[in-house]
Amino acid sequence: MPGVASGVGAVPVDGSGGPDPARVFDWVDRRAELRARAGLTRVTRPRSASSPLLDLAGNDYLGLTRHPEVVAAATSATREWGAGATGSRLVTGTTELHEELEAELAAFTGAEAALVFASGYAANLAALTALTGPGTVVVADAYNHASLIDGCRLSRARTVVFPHRDVAAVERELAAAGSARALVVTDSVFSVDGDAAPLAELAAVCRAHGAALLVDDAHGLGVLGGGGVGALAAAGLAGAPDVVATVTLSKSLGAQGGAVLGPRRVVRHLVETARTFIFDTGLAPACVGGALGALRLLRAEPERAARVRAVARRLADALGGAGLAVSVPEAAVVSVRAPSPEAAVAWAAACREAGVAVGCFRPPSVPDGMSRLRLTARADLTPEQVARVVEVVAATAPAPAAEGGGV
Ligand SMILES: Cc1ncc(COP(=O)(O)O)c(C=O)c1O
Repeated sequence: MPGVASGVGAVPVDGSGGPDPARVFDWVDRRAELRARAGLTRVTRPRSASSPLLDLAGNDYLGLTRHPEVVAAATSATREWGAGATGSRLVTGTTELHEELEAELAAFTGAEAALVFASGYAANLAALTALTGPGTVVVADAYNHASLIDGCRLSRARTVVFPHRDVAAVERELAAAGSARALVVTDSVFSVDGDAAPLAELAAVCRAHGAALLVDDAHGLGVLGGGGVGALAAAGLAGAPDVVATVTLSKSLGAQGGAVLGPRRVVRHLVETARTFIFDTGLAPACVGGALGALRLLRAEPERAARVRAVARRLADALGGAGLAVSVPEAAVVSVRAPSPEAAVAWAAACREAGVAVGCFRPPSVPDGMSRLRLTARADLTPEQVARVVEVVAATAPAPAAEGGGV
């Protein structure tokens, strides 16, 4: 109605009688104010190519993102195929290199087949939406990654969330699901605390009830299992007919992109039905080439996987020894409890000031009351660098954080 304020506080300011377009987004400033009061402001911080910071915030677990062979593989893929994939996978976005990567990812992890996506996030949305739907039941761990949670929401399946790592609760939910098609969903290694899902037990429970198991192995690929073959192979589940995995190419493989790994018929189903496969431009050649280069390097140097696990344990032991409340790392992620979101932000900033970049997790990335520093081990960290990190994190700890005990 002319001359009347509408909706979110828009009011007329000129003679035209319409609401003021400059006020339409006033509400986002009010939300920002609320987040600031709760210590939850987020900003981007551009890093320079020659940053002197010791990086324990990124996910380059194996130290491969700048490895000359990986960079050369990415560069040569760009020269050969161009800067972009030019189209979606079913149109022009599948190069021979995409299929080479899919074949090598499947062979490396012991899966029957693999399908590459533009990101791990897209791979998770694809697996959840294509393998479920109205009338099916998804049984999901409470600490699953946001991309799995979003996949559950998009799937329109009935989603039941079970307490973190609680196999008995999964068994109860599957029994209650009766004859409905069911999918149990979990991270292999949980992003925040770095603890591991009981995969063998979950697979056994799924099998007893005829359910499928979907495992997000973003933090397991390249880190867990002999030579970094991933959590499924480590749990004896590689090639299982009722298990599907998703991975990202952006952590241990130092590139970008994602993949779904599993039975050939599941991959065929995704090709024909997964919307994030069909309606998204194919992964850029540089990322495909880089991931392939990293995978080949990992096959040639399998000791990198054991090395990153050893660095994570050394970090956790030393931080625990310094009196901090530190998690027990099952892979590369080490998390240290902070007393509040504000304390976590100040602590991460103090570490940065002292030359060490660490991650800072606050709600909504973690539940209320669970703010943390998150340190990611890297296979290429020297003992001296690990000692320096421990010294900095301990010296900058807020008082209530230095109280010991597990997370
Ligand atoms: C457990 C988990 N799943 C999925 C993703 C998403 O992967 P991508 O960054 O390739 O989209 C991440 C990334 O941070 C992750 O930690």
